[in-house]
Amino acid sequence: MIQQLLLGQTLAFSGDPLDRDWSDVTRHNSNGGVLVQDDRIIAVGNGDVLQRDYPQATVTHYGDALISAGFVDAHMHYPQTGIIASWGKQLIDWLNTYTFPEEARFGDKAYADGAAGRTLDLALAHGTTTLTSFCTIHPQSVDAFFEAAALRNMAVVAGKTCMDRNAPDALRDTAQSSYDDSKSLLARWHGKGRANYAITPRFSPTSTPEQLHALGALWAEYPDCLMQTHLSEQLPEIAWVRGLFPDARDYLDTYEECGLLGAKGLYGHAIHLEPREIERLQEVGAAVIHCPTSNTFIGSGLFDLMRLAQAGLRIGLATDTGGGSSFSMLRTMAAAYEIGQLRGVALHPAQLMWLATEGSARALHMEGQIGHLGAGAMADITILDLESTPAIAQRVNNANDVWDAVFPTIMMGDDRAIKDVWVAGRRVQRAN
Ligand code: GUN
Ligand code: ZN
Repeated sequence: MIQQLLLGQTLAFSGDPLDRDWSDVTRHNSNGGVLVQDDRIIAVGNGDVLQRDYPQATVTHYGDALISAGFVDAHMHYPQTGIIASWGKQLIDWLNTYTFPEEARFGDKAYADGAAGRTLDLALAHGTTTLTSFCTIHPQSVDAFFEAAALRNMAVVAGKTCMDRNAPDALRDTAQSSYDDSKSLLARWHGKGRANYAITPRFSPTSTPEQLHALGALWAEYPDCLMQTHLSEQLPEIAWVRGLFPDARDYLDTYEECGLLGAKGLYGHAIHLEPREIERLQEVGAAVIHCPTSNTFIGSGLFDLMRLAQAGLRIGLATDTGGGSSFSMLRTMAAAYEIGQLRGVALHPAQLMWLATEGSARALHMEGQIGHLGAGAMADITILDLESTPAIAQRVNNANDVWDAVFPTIMMGDDRAIKDVWVAGRRVQRAN
């Protein structure tokens, strides 16, 4: 048994600050401590008290740095790491011009291994301890990702991306092969160590109704699994879906009709939703995933976070790299704030930090396990230097309270703000 005590400022949550007053559910301790035993957090409290009660624990002093749960990225594409920040296209052109040619390279296991390791290391360098990733249609791209995550002991969610139409030949499977491959990958990986399999139809335009039905049938066999896809990201995409599925009531109906609407569904983007879609997502308890840097970068639109939160939807926060333009959940929170402002809502830093940790974990049905600084959670922890650059430090010198000190790092911080990262109770050795 190994006990570690992390001392610094601590930030934890006891409830949802989008649902209740943020000040009622936020626990900040300027002299805090987090006690870790083996791979789990066993106590969070006053640093002096914990040090007195657990004198045998090895102490790491973080001074004024902020100890938070590790960030949880609820939607991204590790095969797109190599094409992040590609210029000049909106969704459909962007997929055809940049994304599909790059994804075609993932039939090569060594190439997939390289991208998976690189992506996970970039995530850790940015304080993200859980990734939820699409892979490519190649089963070996799924093995590469789960193997690289297991080496790093990271909790991840991923699945084989399924496409049987409207994609290049090299990136098409069939309804049957997508079912068979997904099933055998699921059997190999789901629940192995910290791996979670998600059934992954890319989006309705690249799947025939036969494929969507086959994957819906697979989900019915394994209801414990997550299912991830894209929904109502861009207006031309929605018009395309309408043409491809003329009988569907709306975009969500193309999934619903095939058994792909459920509580464990993760619907990326969800920007241009019809009232019926919001109602059905709420009724089944599904999650929508907000990808703000992607939404501005690809020109998709303004996610209506407050409306969807008030409707009772689970909401996760995500980078959506490489449609998203940053690996950083700090930058992602900043973009969520900016989109909120354009919608007339100023999200509080407590709400942003909650979304990046607890909110995403809840969307993944892993609340209490990850993204949580509290007893019983896995010890995936990120420590933020709140004065990581001269520009941020001079602002923090004028801070009146903790939020005034945290918000500049949310808005202006990057990987330099990541002072340290712990995964499953072990301090991560990072290159920077
Ligand atoms: N819709 C379907 N595929 C993708 C993708 O790879 N990225 C984004 N942003 N949207 C998608
Ligand atoms: Zn995506």
